[in-house]
Amino acid sequence: MTHEFSHVRAGGPAGGIVADPTTRPTACEADAVVVFLTEGGTGAGAAAEIDAATGGLLGRLAAAGELTGRRYECVPLLAPPGVRAGQVLVVGLGKREEVDVGVVYRAAATASRQLSGRPRGTVAFVADGAWSSRQVEQAVAGAAVGMVGQDLYRAEKKRTRFGKTVWLAAAPESVARGLVIGDGVNLARRLVNTAPDDLYPQTFSEEAAAIAGRTGMEVDIWDEEQLARERCQAILAVGRGSSRAPRLVILRYRGPGAGDGRPDLALVGKGVTFDSGGLSLKPSESMLTMKCDMSGGAAVLAAAATIAALKVPINLVAAVGLVENMTGPGAYKLGDVITARSGTTIEVHNTDAEGRVVLADVLDVVRGLQPRRIIDAATLTGACMVALGHDVAGLFTNDQSCCDDLAQAARAVGEPVWQLPMYPDYDEQIKSEVADIKNVGDGRWGGAITAAKFLERFVGGIPWTHVDIAGPAFAEKPRPWTDGGGTGAMVRPLVELARGPD
Ligand code: BES
Ligand code: MN
Ligand code: ZN
Repeated sequence: MTHEFSHVRAGGPAGGIVADPTTRPTACEADAVVVFLTEGGTGAGAAAEIDAATGGLLGRLAAAGELTGRRYECVPLLAPPGVRAGQVLVVGLGKREEVDVGVVYRAAATASRQLSGRPRGTVAFVADGAWSSRQVEQAVAGAAVGMVGQDLYRAEKKRTRFGKTVWLAAAPESVARGLVIGDGVNLARRLVNTAPDDLYPQTFSEEAAAIAGRTGMEVDIWDEEQLARERCQAILAVGRGSSRAPRLVILRYRGPGAGDGRPDLALVGKGVTFDSGGLSLKPSESMLTMKCDMSGGAAVLAAAATIAALKVPINLVAAVGLVENMTGPGAYKLGDVITARSGTTIEVHNTDAEGRVVLADVLDVVRGLQPRRIIDAATLTGACMVALGHDVAGLFTNDQSCCDDLAQAARAVGEPVWQLPMYPDYDEQIKSEVADIKNVGDGRWGGAITAAKFLERFVGGIPWTHVDIAGPAFAEKPRPWTDGGGTGAMVRPLVELARGPD
């Protein structure tokens, strides 16, 4: 018996994804059946079933060293005897005791990426009987993410979505939720991968409005005039160097039974649709990937859409500050003093430290709504990548339990995060000789922290955590589980945080 799902999805050929809790992997009529294998694990679960049906093929391959179950290893068995499907793809999970949700997500994505290299009718995945429902969800999400690459502008596509995906041994509700989550990640990835001449403040805000319409969220879009009426001079200053005017997108979602009160959670995103650095111009090599500088905004929009599609019972606001940081005749200048919406004055020492200036006003708008907590996501500093590398997001907070909850949510879905300190001494570094604060620290050391300290000035004491995703938001090179480009970092943790523990 199979269960078919319909869901909110933004364009593209939507192959159906169904759950089939009862059919055996050996009996499933599919072009391919994906089986997960831990190191030395051919004797258990679906692998054992395939092994028995094929007269011990898996065991012989393992003995010959051709099949190890190492992380993300993919071994295709073509036309295996005793199995209905055209091929069995065995994907490695590594050592059993080291398997976590992140590994499951990436292993499913790896298999999916591999198989989507050419058109397929039906592909079946076998959920491991030992997985929790949240693990099944993340595996389903990973499989949905792996079959989408960076094909937006390519005539000859490298990936083709499966005609149909079947999840064997999985509960229909978990498959349905995993699919919504995978769609959320793919939405963020698509926005990041869209060229900056196609995705700029106005077009991003139009996308947000369309998504809000599909998922039942209220949307408010502040244009230049509205931003001026609201005294958002910090957003306007950064936007002045571009022919494309800034926008502020505010989304509201009221969950079932959550009442009408103050928001439980506010999500804030940096939406710099292109960061040239402004007059503090970036060198070409650093500028090349700066279409990714709206990844925080994309993550926040996609997380909000996913939370709404899952009907999570909370009240949520999500706000994205959208600007293009350019060098046009009106561009903001070094030495300028901006009065932010909160009244705090900011001396500009470097126009490339634009994200924090934009977020100053977005955080102030959100603070006015008195949410119980605020999480912001931003590709804020190269310094955070120096500290933590490409794969780990930095956390910064004024409230340890707020930060712990987010770290726990990230762990639950397998996205690595690491907290950096916020000692009061760092505040000294953003003092200005002429204004309340300046937009960079003294020298580059501790640059991720001084940036977070700057943001802290605008949250008015509300429990807040800042997530610097400069590293994990964008993959410059392909990895086994992705073609590269936008990764959808922080979408799954933010959704998990909103849902709360199992
Ligand atoms: N958008 C960049 C940060 C960034 C760098 C994101 C690399 C993704 C990859 C940000 O606006 C920026 O330019 N930050 C400066 C701050 C500095 C001028 C204080 C940086 O990190 O160099
Ligand atoms: Mn910058
Ligand atoms: Zn930037």
